[in-house]
Amino acid sequence: MAKMEVKTSLLDDMIGVGDMVLLEPLDEDSFIDNLKKRFDHNEVYTYIGSVVISINPYRSLPIYTPEKVEEYRNRNFYELSPHIFALSDEAYRSLRDQDKDQCILITGESGAGKTEASKLVMSYVAAVCGKGAEVNQVKEQLLQSNPVLEAFGNAKTVRNDNSSRFGKYMDIEFDFKGDPLGGVISNYLLEKSRVVKQPRGERNFHIFYQILSGASEDFLCKLKLEQDFSRYNYLGLDSAKVNGVDDAANFRTVRNAMQIVGFMDHETQSVFEVVAAVLKLGNIEFKPESRVNGLDESKIKDKNELKEICELTGIDQSVLERAFSFRTVEAKQEKVSTTLNVAQAYYARDALAKNLYSRLFSWLVTRINESIKAQTKVRKKVMGVLDIYGFEIFEDNSFEQFIINYCNEKLQQIFIELTLKEEQEEYIREGIEWTHIEYFNNAIICDLIENNQTGILAMLDEECLRPGTVTDDTFLEKLNQVCATHQHFESRMSKCSRFLNDTTLPHSCFRIQHYAGKVMYQVEGFVDKNNDLLYRDLSQAMWKANHSLIKALFPEGNPAKINLKRPPTAGSQFKASVATLMKNLQTKNPNYIRCIKPNDKKAAHIFNDALVCHQIRYLGLLENVRVRRAGYAFRQAYEPCLERYKMLCKQTWPHWRGPARSGVEVLFNELEIPEEEFSFGRSKIFIRNPRTLFKLEDLRKQRLEDLATLIEKIYRGWKCRTRFLLMKKSQVVIASWYRRYAQQKKYQKIKSSAIIVQSYIRGWKARKLLRELKHQRRCNEAATIIAAYWHGTQVRREYRKFFRANAGRKIYEFTLQRLMQKYFLEMKNKMPSLSPIDKNWPARPYLFLDSTHKELKRIFHLWRCKKYRDQFTDQQKLIYEEKLEASELFKDKKALYPASVGQPFQGAYLEISKNPKYKKLKDAVDEKIIIAEVVSKINRANGKATSRIFLLTKNNVLLVDQKSGNIKSEVPLGDVTKVSMSSQNDGFFAVHLKEGSGAAGKGDFLLSSDHLIEMATKLYRTTLSQTKQKLNIEISDEFLVQFKRDKVCVKFIQGSQKNGNIPTCKRKNNRLLEVAVP
Ligand SMILES: Nc1ncnc2c1ncn2[C@@H]1O[C@H](COP(=O)(O)OP(=O)(O)OP(=O)(O)O)[C@@H](O)[C@H]1O
Ligand SMILES: [Mg+2]
Repeated sequence: MAKMEVKTSLLDDMIGVGDMVLLEPLDEDSFIDNLKKRFDHNEVYTYIGSVVISINPYRSLPIYTPEKVEEYRNRNFYELSPHIFALSDEAYRSLRDQDKDQCILITGESGAGKTEASKLVMSYVAAVCGKGAEVNQVKEQLLQSNPVLEAFGNAKTVRNDNSSRFGKYMDIEFDFKGDPLGGVISNYLLEKSRVVKQPRGERNFHIFYQILSGASEDFLCKLKLEQDFSRYNYLGLDSAKVNGVDDAANFRTVRNAMQIVGFMDHETQSVFEVVAAVLKLGNIEFKPESRVNGLDESKIKDKNELKEICELTGIDQSVLERAFSFRTVEAKQEKVSTTLNVAQAYYARDALAKNLYSRLFSWLVTRINESIKAQTKVRKKVMGVLDIYGFEIFEDNSFEQFIINYCNEKLQQIFIELTLKEEQEEYIREGIEWTHIEYFNNAIICDLIENNQTGILAMLDEECLRPGTVTDDTFLEKLNQVCATHQHFESRMSKCSRFLNDTTLPHSCFRIQHYAGKVMYQVEGFVDKNNDLLYRDLSQAMWKANHSLIKALFPEGNPAKINLKRPPTAGSQFKASVATLMKNLQTKNPNYIRCIKPNDKKAAHIFNDALVCHQIRYLGLLENVRVRRAGYAFRQAYEPCLERYKMLCKQTWPHWRGPARSGVEVLFNELEIPEEEFSFGRSKIFIRNPRTLFKLEDLRKQRLEDLATLIEKIYRGWKCRTRFLLMKKSQVVIASWYRRYAQQKKYQKIKSSAIIVQSYIRGWKARKLLRELKHQRRCNEAATIIAAYWHGTQVRREYRKFFRANAGRKIYEFTLQRLMQKYFLEMKNKMPSLSPIDKNWPARPYLFLDSTHKELKRIFHLWRCKKYRDQFTDQQKLIYEEKLEASELFKDKKALYPASVGQPFQGAYLEISKNPKYKKLKDAVDEKIIIAEVVSKINRANGKATSRIFLLTKNNVLLVDQKSGNIKSEVPLGDVTKVSMSSQNDGFFAVHLKEGSGAAGKGDFLLSSDHLIEMATKLYRTTLSQTKQKLNIEISDEFLVQFKRDKVCVKFIQGSQKNGNIPTCKRKNNRLLEVAVP
């Protein structure tokens, strides 16, 4: 089963293109644009195939952390975005796993970041290789050699604050497991002229400043130094302080590093003594002194400094003083001494300082090598790291630049050779046909410099060794003769007329067209520097020093080993060491880091197109890409290729079961990629055009998006489904729990209800039972009580007579009986009269008979009244009835009434039947006369009274003239509606007649009688018995009477008594009739 593993690629999230081989179109502009784009996005590394281009970011980027180391560890080169760690990892793994020695070639101009790159490589390898106490110590020593060498070999220049002023090649040795065993460092040509003189704006080597700022006062005193930089002539003062560099702290680092690397304390002490001596040498000054023989002679101005130097180095002061004044030339066993003039003395001083320092530096390298060299003799695997000074073009270029640039030519040469070789080898290995590639081969320039017969170095040596006067000019002349025809050599003196008129080329210069550009060299100093002479007197003086280190630095000063043969010149020495280096490199698998400087200002974020363009030109990077792309731009092993693109074809997705190669074939066929666009190698697929690759990438990206959507879809579906299932499951659980709970609740409720009902029923039953029982008990008790009472009664009844207790009661009852008997007997005797109006009644004898007494009185009275009534005759009865009637009608209403009570009602006051006067009247009235009386009739008009006889019969009221006995008016009783009278003591009354009746024509009657009460009573009774209607009797002091048509008000007022008791009537107006009552 294929392992699920996330494979990444360089092609993922690329900014621009990560590998220049994929650049489309490929030209200088697009090349620079791509670098710039990446640089702007902090991508400082870019590949050309397996070559790493590194642009100095001039600021610390967070891309070198331990996490990054882990990220790049054991990953394939093209798997992640370009990084120096990828190259380091690739180199280290192929060294460890494939047993191939490696070299890492770091090139680029000054300040491009070579030294930093070499340190990054070393630290990466140190981080990923084996661990353990011993291994760690070796690693630490290897890493700590850097600060020591940088302190002594680096200096601030205008181009770089930490410029390496020597070339360095370090072989790191590993055992078969890949654990570091040790290392060997080779150094190349220290720029020793810097010791005595530095260009404007530059400094001497760091160590001088570090000692002065970092050493304790004690230590300085021991070294006879002072802290003040300005005290020393050799220290360039205008830029003694470098921004961002702490010399004092660095001094401590260096001392610490020296200790780690394994320097003994006395060795460290000696090293600093030599450094101090060099510094103090610069302060020795000379003055001219003329001698008798006319020869110029120099003399040391102030011998104090010399004395101190001698004390420091243990040299005899006189010996050194002499060495600065004389020069001994030995030839054929003859010694000739000549004096030195001031200039020569200064030359000697500077030569000594330069030699002391450069030899000290070489000694340091040797000493470090001693410490870090592998302890075992087993076969070692080697990784070489080359950090050599970059190609240099200054305004004034001298011998040093010439040497440096020669070295860079050689490196370019080896780069071309090895890249082409590798490319070719790969084609052969993979069985792909090789096509020839056009590129610039700088072998011709190398030949111009190093050719053993006609090369510039050979000629310089020849000139130096030639007897006779040798000057730089003679050297230039020679050059002009020999190299004039060379394509890459330019000089005004050359026979070739091309440059005769070229004013940019001074006469004292020659120009070489290096692969990296034209460089003009000042010929001045070439011979001297190549000779690198130190007067023998000086080296001998040094050898004589009582200082083991200095003695060791000048072995040629030993007179016993005197060697008259000239030492090899600097040029030839360098050529030889470069040749060795090249040989060494050719045996190894090369890895290239090509450093580029983005600007001249040592500033971050600035990308100077012109400067970069220049660098990529001379580094031949475009050629590099072309070579790499010749034929096929891109290649990839089958496995990663299939892994990356398998999703583009149904047969290969998701798994291809067969071999990777056939998988790729199927894939490419399916995608219909034209056949000329690719080729199948043995282990790799070769793609001719970057376009094809980008097409594949586009397809892949699109497909990935589709796949991502698919995965997302499936994942979402899965997620929803699992969630749904989970929810469903949960729902079932919850529902079951809830149901259980609900049922439980319901059951509890039913149960408690049942219990309640049950308890009520039980209670009810119990109560019923209780009631029954209680009832039964009460019945029993009642029966018992009744029985008891009954028995009691029986017994009491039987025995009562025998009890005295009943005597009181009997006596009481008897007494009462006796009292009542007595009462009734007494009452019989005391009875009052039988008159109903007798109010007497005997007093009550006993209180308890009160009600009986009253009742008796009432009964007696009623009985007496009855007795009285029973005596009446019918006549009397009638009279009393009438009297009773009168009482009911008038009592308390009419003031006249009380007087009437005592008068018996006679009725017929006029005995009509007996009086003959009324014979006719008697005849006219055949009915029984009830009332016959004389009344006064009031004249309606004036109120005057006239007498009339008033007759009341069973049916009529008659008014009869008293004299004649003629009937004046006859009114049937039915026509009398009302009788009105006053409440006063008068006999005045009005008889109201029914309206419209026959008698009513003249109106109502106004009459006055002495027997008013009797008359009114009889009229009432007769009307009632005849008409069965109650006559209305109105008693009021003001009433209305009908006179003909008028209604007249009769008003009673208080009158005078002049007419006796008779009221007087007066008609006041036609509405009012006043009656004055006396
Ligand atoms: N990868 C990097 N990250 C951050 N800063 C860097 C990096 N590389 C170089 N630099 C900066 O650039 C400066 C110069 O780099 P370096 O000393 O490596 O240059 P060089 O190529 O060795 O120059 P020379 O040829 O003069 O020795 C360093 O001191 C450092 O400040
Ligand atoms: Mg450097």
